[in-house]
Amino acid sequence: MSVKSKCRMLDGPWLGLSGLLVVLFTAVTPAPVDAQVAAGAGVTFAEDVAPILYQKCVSCHRPGSIAPMSLLDYETAVQYQPLIRVMVEERRMPPWYVDHNVGIQDFKDDRSLTDEEIATIVQWVESSAPAGDPAAMPPVPDFEDQIYEWTLEDEMGRPPDHIVMMPEPFTIPGNSGNLFPWFIADSGLEEDRWIQAYETKPSVEGFPVVHHNGTTFIYPDGSTEEFGEYAIGKTGDIFPDGTGRFIPAGTQIRFSAHYSGSTDGEDRTDQTRLALWFYPRGVEPEHRLYRDRWGAISDLDIPPYEDSARSDGFTILDQNVRLTAYQPHMHNLGDRQCMEVIYPDQRRQTLNCVGWDFGWHITYNYADDVQPLLPKGSVIHLTHWHNNSESNPWAGDPDNWVGYGQRSTDDMAFAHISNYKLSDEEFAEHVAERRRLVDERRRAAEEAAGGGG
Ligand code: HEC
Repeated sequence: MSVKSKCRMLDGPWLGLSGLLVVLFTAVTPAPVDAQVAAGAGVTFAEDVAPILYQKCVSCHRPGSIAPMSLLDYETAVQYQPLIRVMVEERRMPPWYVDHNVGIQDFKDDRSLTDEEIATIVQWVESSAPAGDPAAMPPVPDFEDQIYEWTLEDEMGRPPDHIVMMPEPFTIPGNSGNLFPWFIADSGLEEDRWIQAYETKPSVEGFPVVHHNGTTFIYPDGSTEEFGEYAIGKTGDIFPDGTGRFIPAGTQIRFSAHYSGSTDGEDRTDQTRLALWFYPRGVEPEHRLYRDRWGAISDLDIPPYEDSARSDGFTILDQNVRLTAYQPHMHNLGDRQCMEVIYPDQRRQTLNCVGWDFGWHITYNYADDVQPLLPKGSVIHLTHWHNNSESNPWAGDPDNWVGYGQRSTDDMAFAHISNYKLSDEEFAEHVAERRRLVDERRRAAEEAAGGGG
């Protein structure tokens, strides 16, 4: 496979300035009435588009949230229609970069648009973006909870057992652009505990400027392990049944924030909090969850002006693994990552390919029924692509060669993998259970097809 032929979902036909111009042009030129009717077939904002935006966009695109404009009302949305079309067709918005054409597609909290939703938005733009009947507008969703409440409190049946705050409030100057500060807080835990669920939340005033905030455990021996993160739409996790994260007494918490100063020029202060729900004292979950680094490269070589610098990292599994979540990690020049497994019997399978935008650190949690079951002896192969050219808005100076390092002007390439280990006996049970499930579904599908025919 040539480097250029890597399958890239994000490079749709509309990528780049030329694509944008085509779209702007078609959007401002009224189509003949016949063509409007044929293409649009009655698609309107109130009836068809607003329900999609309200479900998939306005948690961020509304006044007082993090995105640059509100998509709640027709008047604003219609001004942005050419750009909305580009962003949804290229799957750059909502931020969710799993390649829909390769590998596993079933994730928890999937906020991406379906092909039908994209087609509806495109049809609306192509038919001159009609408003429709204002009475048909869906009710404006309520976001109070998102700002004020621990959203897992209901499901967990109680308020958090323990809260760790950033050590002090941090002020984000208005119009300051992107800031990436780190903070280290004492967890305040004087005994070891097992964590069943967590949620991360900005303070109320900080909500509109917190893009994401990741937490890392710094264990008493100085070693570190990533824990969780906050982003709108993905504030926490209840860990799968029978699993939990272990936090020893004396662990410190590192908050790695991404702030983006408010565009109204107002300074804002944030003090993000991490809430923990524990297993009862004395109850130990069956499996300890880990967040490992797979496929890491420490000798990156990204030449100036190279838009497809490829590197390959490998991790050999010395234990059986059930993989629960995948999160690529790269810096500014990251572009795309694919994860494949080479099984001990030489079969190869691509698990996923995921695009990368430095502005969004997204954990992709696999749905329970499709979590990869990987036998020991498998080799995990991560392919990383970096883009050090002007086509990458995050590239600081494409004149420069870039290598591996900790600074944000250096780059990185690995994947955070949430997983738990299985003994040979447990692994055989998990595989048998998966086989049963797959057979059951196949039979149900065959019956449905037979019954319908
Ligand atoms: C999780 C938050 C979030 C969600 C959900 C989201 N957006 Fe965005 N959007 C942003 C942010 C923040 C920006 C600013 C650029 C950036 O940081 O990537 C943005 C930028 C945009 C832009 C470009 C605006 C400009 O002036 O450059 C468009 C268009 C857009 N979003 C449309 C949408 C649409 C349509 C949806 C739903 C189908 C959506 N977004 C869902 C957060 C979000």
